[in-house]
Amino acid sequence: MEIRTYLREQKEIVERALADYMLEACGPFAEHISTLRYSLFAGGKRIRPILCLTAARMTAGPELTDQDVLPTACALECIHTYSLIHDDLPAMDDDALRRGKPTNHAVYGEAAAILAGDALQCFAFELMSNEEICALPASTRLKIITTIARAAGPEGMVGGQFLDVMHEGRDVPYDLLRTIHAGKTGALITASVVAGAIAAGADDSRIRTLARYGDNAGLAFQIADDILNVESTSEQLGKAAGSDAARGKATYPALFGLEESRRMAREAARNAQIALEDFGDRGAPLRAIADYIVTRTR
Ligand code: IPE
Ligand code: IPE
Ligand code: MG
Ligand code: MG
Repeated sequence: MEIRTYLREQKEIVERALADYMLEACGPFAEHISTLRYSLFAGGKRIRPILCLTAARMTAGPELTDQDVLPTACALECIHTYSLIHDDLPAMDDDALRRGKPTNHAVYGEAAAILAGDALQCFAFELMSNEEICALPASTRLKIITTIARAAGPEGMVGGQFLDVMHEGRDVPYDLLRTIHAGKTGALITASVVAGAIAAGADDSRIRTLARYGDNAGLAFQIADDILNVESTSEQLGKAAGSDAARGKATYPALFGLEESRRMAREAARNAQIALEDFGDRGAPLRAIADYIVTRTR
């Protein structure tokens, strides 16, 4: 399979669904809604929704349709986009460029950007809980919501972001670096594949297997992000390069150097692939995504 073609096709499916679900900028809240749309449709790889859709197809019978999974997949993208808007705020990473465009707060101001993030997060939970949008059985929806809420929350993404910001300019031991990366990035990536599997009605053992894939793929993803921050350019990334060192962030290259970081990223991607052995051929797309995660250039 040509992974870049697969990712392009899947991205189009996600883009169409996001365009369907997202509120139009009209009515009394038009100005606010346009600030959400600005960041959500600024471009982005859509890797979390693609992981969700792919994991669902991998574990489902033929009766499951993309339409069953897309509200959850798009909810993940809304949560991710909210996290990027807040991550870029002056109080956090203070970045001016995101997805190749000026950051949300640079365009609309800090108050509007904080509120855009808040609103995208709430909107995500509406996509998953509203039975008119998500047709999965209520008990399945509840499991998905619990999984994603936990992953996005105090012991997941937000907790990781807290530790990331609080340890700027400090010496961070390896186990804490792992905790930061697993929280800020790994948790939502794991939740993406797990939520897809839950939507597909997968049993607990398959869900555990996919969680192992997600934990390793998520780690690989953030190590790759750390490496790109050192090696790439702002034009290529569509976001600031060199910013981690400037802010004294805890990263793999800072702790281990570039070469060892590359090795560790490849090892994590390999461990993600190994986790899928039981899936045989059905695991091919997720295995290819693990490769993509450590070879991507943005
Ligand atoms: C960037 O995520 C932030 C991290 C968690 C590393 P992505 O690299 O998925 O960003 P987009 O969505 O493609 O812009
Ligand atoms: C972002 O991590 C993680 C979240 C937004 C949850 P980084 O701060 O390392 O990512 P970039 O480099 O700004 O995308
Ligand atoms: Mg950050
Ligand atoms: Mg950042």
